[in-house]
Amino acid sequence: MDLDIAGRKALVCGASAGLGFACAEALAKEGVEVVMAARTEATLREAAAKLAAILKAPVSWVAADVTTAEGRARIFAAHPDFDIVVTNAGGPPPGDFRNWDRDAWLAALDANMLSPIEIIKRTVDGMMARGFGRIINITSSSVKSPIDALGLSTGARSGLTGFVAGLARSTVARNVTINNILPGTFDTSRLAGNFAAQAKRENASVEEVKAKRLAKHPAHRFGRPEEFGQACAFLCGANSGYINGQNLLMDGGSFSGAW
Ligand SMILES: NC(=O)c1ccc[n+]([C@@H]2O[C@H](COP(=O)([O-])OP(=O)(O)OC[C@H]3O[C@@H](n4cnc5c(N)ncnc54)[C@H](OP(=O)(O)O)[C@@H]3O)[C@@H](O)[C@H]2O)c1
Repeated sequence: MDLDIAGRKALVCGASAGLGFACAEALAKEGVEVVMAARTEATLREAAAKLAAILKAPVSWVAADVTTAEGRARIFAAHPDFDIVVTNAGGPPPGDFRNWDRDAWLAALDANMLSPIEIIKRTVDGMMARGFGRIINITSSSVKSPIDALGLSTGARSGLTGFVAGLARSTVARNVTINNILPGTFDTSRLAGNFAAQAKRENASVEEVKAKRLAKHPAHRFGRPEEFGQACAFLCGANSGYINGQNLLMDGGSFSGAW
């Protein structure tokens, strides 16, 4: 299927690994000019080289922390306009809400709610003026199916979800859509890190923790990042302009509900 977005320009945040990299790859394969952003220059440079080798064409990148005003300013100084934006950054740590002070909450809100909103604020009016825009926020299945220990993530991402649900209704008439994709368990380094932490907590091996999780999952497997990237690219397609303000849960059917 031709998504008809060749030549469009995209910013993909958190693009050096995992879900962000998969989105960058899927968009770039559609002929989109992708700018990859992540904090660590060495791994970002490596990821951009990997993508460039797949595409046989150079790929732009900016090393920046997208949760800081300075990091975002560096991206937009180098690339002022984007047609497609994928917001994404690391998630806050799990824990017990009794131990989260105001600073912990503010850090989570900054990373997973206010930063995406700042990026949208910086890009959405240009998209509306040009008559095309696709904004995808990578959030989490925990927004729909909350997990106690992930309260910081759920709280902050729910704020973003509520906010964009309103905003999306005011941009779609100019062909600018805003949608969220909610990953369940995808096989990325973050997931591996979560398993390692859980194994330590439970005094079990990583393999045991993983096997237990897989046995409970209806698909008996974790999601592949490339599946996520393909869904992201589809929502960014020229003919996806009537899919707006939605929350696409990608969890292999783990959430047991009719809708
Ligand atoms: N994988 C899952 O199963 C799953 C499930 C639910 C939710 N999520 C959420 O989805 C998002 C992506 O997860 P993932 O599994 O793809 O993670 P990942 O494999 O750890 O990759 C995270 C990417 O984001 C970059 N990054 C992190 N913080 C950043 C920041 N402040 N500014 C710019 N780049 C940043 C990382 O590079 P640097 O560290 O170099 O910046 C890396 O490129 C996270 O928010 C995660 O919480 C994932």
